[in-house]
Amino acid sequence: MTLSNTNKTPKRILLTGPTGFIGKRLLYELDKKGYQVRCLVRPPETLDLTIPLTREPEIVYGDLLDPDSLIEALEGIDTAYYLVHSMGGRSIRETLAFEEKDRKAAENFLQASDNAGLSRIIYLGGLGDISDNLSHHLASRQEVGRILQSGKVQTTILRAAVIVGAGGAAFEIVRYLVERLPVLTCPKWVYTKSQPISIDNVLAYLAGCLDTPETAGRSLDIGGPQVLSYADLMRMYARVRGLKRLIIGVPMVPFKLSAYWVNLITPVPAGVVLPLAEGLRNEAICRENTIREMIPLNLLSMEQAICNALAEESEGPGKLLSQQACFLPEDLQ
Ligand SMILES: NC(=O)c1ccc[n+]([C@@H]2O[C@H](COP(=O)([O-])OP(=O)(O)OC[C@H]3O[C@@H](n4cnc5c(N)ncnc54)[C@H](OP(=O)(O)O)[C@@H]3O)[C@@H](O)[C@H]2O)c1
Repeated sequence: MTLSNTNKTPKRILLTGPTGFIGKRLLYELDKKGYQVRCLVRPPETLDLTIPLTREPEIVYGDLLDPDSLIEALEGIDTAYYLVHSMGGRSIRETLAFEEKDRKAAENFLQASDNAGLSRIIYLGGLGDISDNLSHHLASRQEVGRILQSGKVQTTILRAAVIVGAGGAAFEIVRYLVERLPVLTCPKWVYTKSQPISIDNVLAYLAGCLDTPETAGRSLDIGGPQVLSYADLMRMYARVRGLKRLIIGVPMVPFKLSAYWVNLITPVPAGVVLPLAEGLRNEAICRENTIREMIPLNLLSMEQAICNALAEESEGPGKLLSQQACFLPEDLQ
């Protein structure tokens, strides 16, 4: 069992969102590091493990919107990962209530964590400057961070822009659009600059926080080595796949119209696309890089991150996370 640097007893960890894009991967990462993890799962969901873990995870059923269900989930826990959001209804109407739900979920979780005497919460939020007339999605991610930092528990906030990995909504939108359309007509917000990061690096930072006590109580920006726009990511994807694609900018298109259009071409629901698209009107670039000294990593290029995602998808879900094969063209290595 992995031991913390400061505390010689094994940490007891609660993972929220273990059915999600990031949570399900973090479960493998923590298992690999030797941690026994308790997973909070919303009924009637189950944990769909694509490859076996070394340790059987403990499952507790609960919902962040139901405070009573959190008491048992947090009993005896030292550190909780907060990897939950309510965005993602199939329709735009379903998604509209996400801010209120996310506020309530964070308040419930903080209260239950304070009552249970938790030492730490580690939350993955979003990049973006509060002065920048943030989209509802990014403003809500920041509000959740402020709530989680307002209690007795020491909360670490890692702030990320687009995370590139197989199954992540932002990456799947790029993949389907570029695979399916030879000419991409894009509204001007696809040219906004951001600092995407590979899922592998995000997992290493999330897991690394456990062994790095100086990250407790801090808000830290995490980003990859390149500042890119969504249009740059699409061009990069086409290059890695050897596809010829033309990207043409078009004048202002309403976000809702874009969300319905993306939903026609890709399997990503309009209720997920809308908040993501609105978020692209704000620059999402790291304002500080303290984490690079606290948890030194080899930051993957976005070409490499795209390659890893493609390799993971081509290997099929049974091989998920089993290896990081890469078919990066030689001139991109
Ligand atoms: N993906 C990105 O590119 C990205 C970028 C920056 C930051 N982040 C942050 O990373 C975190 C995780 O994102 P993700 O992409 O992994 O999201 P995701 O795939 O949509 O997963 C969301 C998870 O939250 C759970 N959940 C939602 N409402 C809940 C509730 N009331 N009670 C308990 N669980 C609930 C879902 O459970 P069910 O299976 O039951 O629905 C699911 O496991 C979020 O905080 C997000 O803001 C993500």
